[in-house]
Amino acid sequence: MKQPEIDYLAQIEQLKREKNAILLAHYYQQDEIQDAADFIGDSLELSRKAMSTKARVIVFAGVYFMAETAKILNPERVVVIPDHEAGCSLVEQSPVEAFRRFRETHPDHFIITYINSSAAVKALSDVTCTSSNALQIVAKAPKNRPLMFAPDRNLGRYIRQESGRLDMELWDGSCVVHEVFSVRRIMELQDLHPGAELIAHPECEKPLLEMADFVGSTSALLRYVAGSNKQSFIVATESGILHQMRKRAPGKELIPAPPEGDCSCNLCPHMRLHTIEKVYRALKDERPAVEIEESLRAAALRPIERMLDWSSV
Ligand code: 13P
Ligand code: SF4
Repeated sequence: MKQPEIDYLAQIEQLKREKNAILLAHYYQQDEIQDAADFIGDSLELSRKAMSTKARVIVFAGVYFMAETAKILNPERVVVIPDHEAGCSLVEQSPVEAFRRFRETHPDHFIITYINSSAAVKALSDVTCTSSNALQIVAKAPKNRPLMFAPDRNLGRYIRQESGRLDMELWDGSCVVHEVFSVRRIMELQDLHPGAELIAHPECEKPLLEMADFVGSTSALLRYVAGSNKQSFIVATESGILHQMRKRAPGKELIPAPPEGDCSCNLCPHMRLHTIEKVYRALKDERPAVEIEESLRAAALRPIERMLDWSSV
C-alpha cells in the first residue's frame, strides 16, 4: 500500500515548537532546507548564532566542522546533523598527524587555522578564522612570529597579499568546489554579458580572484549583490547562494560561474548530502548527534574564542 506523503515542512515546524529546536542552515543547502531554516548564514554567523541560541536542540544543516563548532560552543545543547557523512575537502587535506608534526617542528610559528578544519586541528592552532574575518585576525597576529595559514592555500594567499604579511606560510589544501571554476568559460560569459560584475569567494584560485570585481565570504557576496547598483553578476561560489540572492535582489541577473567540464562540480558534494527528509528525521530522532570528548572540546574552544574576541564582524 502506498504510504501517504509526509509534508516535511509542516512536520519540521511542529517538531521545532514541541522540542524547542532551531534549524540553522548554510547558504549551500538545497533551497527547501534554506526555506525551512530559522537562520541562514556564513560560517561565522552560524557560529555566533549557535552561541546565542536558547534552543535545546540545534539541527545544523551544514558540513560536519560547522556542527562540531556549534557543539564546541554549546556542550550542553543537543547538536544534530542530518547526514553525518557531510565532510569537507579542506578537513580531509589537513590530517591531524601532519598538523601535529608541523606544530612540533615549528614551535615558533603562530598558526591561524580556517574554521574548515577538524576539532583536533583547531586544538593545535593559535587562533581560528573564517573567510569573513581572516584579514582582521591576521592583522592582530603577533608581528614578531612567523605565521602559518591552514588549510586553504587560496584563501591564505589572498589574505597574505591583502594584509602584506608576506612571511605567512601556507598549508597545501584547497576546496574541491572553488578550484573547479573555469577562467576560460568565465571570460566567454563576460563577453556575452559585458556589464556583468564577477564576484568570487576567496577559496577560488588566484587567476580568478585577480579578475574578480569583488571578493568576499558568502554573506559578503550576498550583501554586495543586494547593495550594488549593478544589474548583472557572475557568481563564483557554490550556486546554493543564488537562492538567497534571488530573494534579496529580485530582478537582478545572477549567472553561476561554470566549471571547465560538463559536471555539477560547482555544487558541494558534502553540503548536498542533506535532504529535507534527513532534516526531518534528525529533528524527530535527535540523531545523528555530534559528540566531542571534553578535553578536546576545551582545547578546540580556545582558538575559536580568541577568533570571536578578535573579530567585530
Ligand atoms: P563562508 O564562511 O563564506 O560561509 O564559507 C564556508 C565554506 O565552506 C565555503 O566553501
Ligand atoms: Fe568544504 Fe568546499 Fe564544501 Fe565549503 S564548498 S564545505 S570548503 S568542500
